[in-house]
Amino acid sequence: MHSAADPIGVFDSGVGGLSVLREIRRELPAENLLYVADSAHAPYGDKTQAFIEARAFAITRFLLDRGAKAIVVACNTATGAAVASLRSHFTQPIVAMEPAIKPAAAQTKTGVVGVLATRRTLASHNFVKLFERYASEAEILPQACPGLVEQVESGDLAGVKTRNLLETYVLPLVARGADTLVLGCTHYPFLRPLIQDIAGPNVAVIDSSEAVARQLRHRLVAHDLLADRETSGNEQYWSSADPAITGPVIAQLWRRNVEVRRLPESFV
Ligand code: SIN
Repeated sequence: MHSAADPIGVFDSGVGGLSVLREIRRELPAENLLYVADSAHAPYGDKTQAFIEARAFAITRFLLDRGAKAIVVACNTATGAAVASLRSHFTQPIVAMEPAIKPAAAQTKTGVVGVLATRRTLASHNFVKLFERYASEAEILPQACPGLVEQVESGDLAGVKTRNLLETYVLPLVARGADTLVLGCTHYPFLRPLIQDIAGPNVAVIDSSEAVARQLRHRLVAHDLLADRETSGNEQYWSSADPAITGPVIAQLWRRNVEVRRLPESFV
């Protein structure tokens, strides 16, 4: 049985899920948060469905072993590949990514929406369903972005290579009339300043991490699991890669010095 004082477990293929953790921290300041960056296996985008599912199960078990009362799959690729089986296997609330295609279709003025994500995410059942559902409201242009996850994993948020890659992906969407860009990968919000700079001021750049944090709050309330302590919650971090490499990148993105532990061998 879980209690409201237990922590929330959050994981991603790497450091990108920190963009979701940031919104969870804003929305739920009293909660203790456990974060796993599976950086030894990032990006998930080029892995098989079976591999991603196996990683999602291993990391979820690791987080539940540490008392997690709810799990957040802070990765669009893992959501597409594994969330259905996680939900059918575990009884704890499992919150996952929902790309911001609905708000994008509602707010576009040109009627053209670009969606940036990994190839695997764009081909996932969830995305294909959303593209079909909103096709009558907007022209939706999916854009796969190989290489971007690696740039964020290495902490290169604004270098020449990152800019060149982004120009290749973003400029054709703008040229086709997109006035709204959906970030369909949790790594990409860390590239938002560069994406906005390349797309220009008339293009809205949106992602779903705030909505995911709100959804998490609803689920905790529904299960009577919302932390009610008066003090601020804390965060703990693990990585499947060498913490000497992942640690500085997490500190850079989280804007604070953090201790990152190595995931135990049996979970790597
Ligand atoms: C990846 O690891 O391929 C991307 C992570 C994401 O989709 O959020």
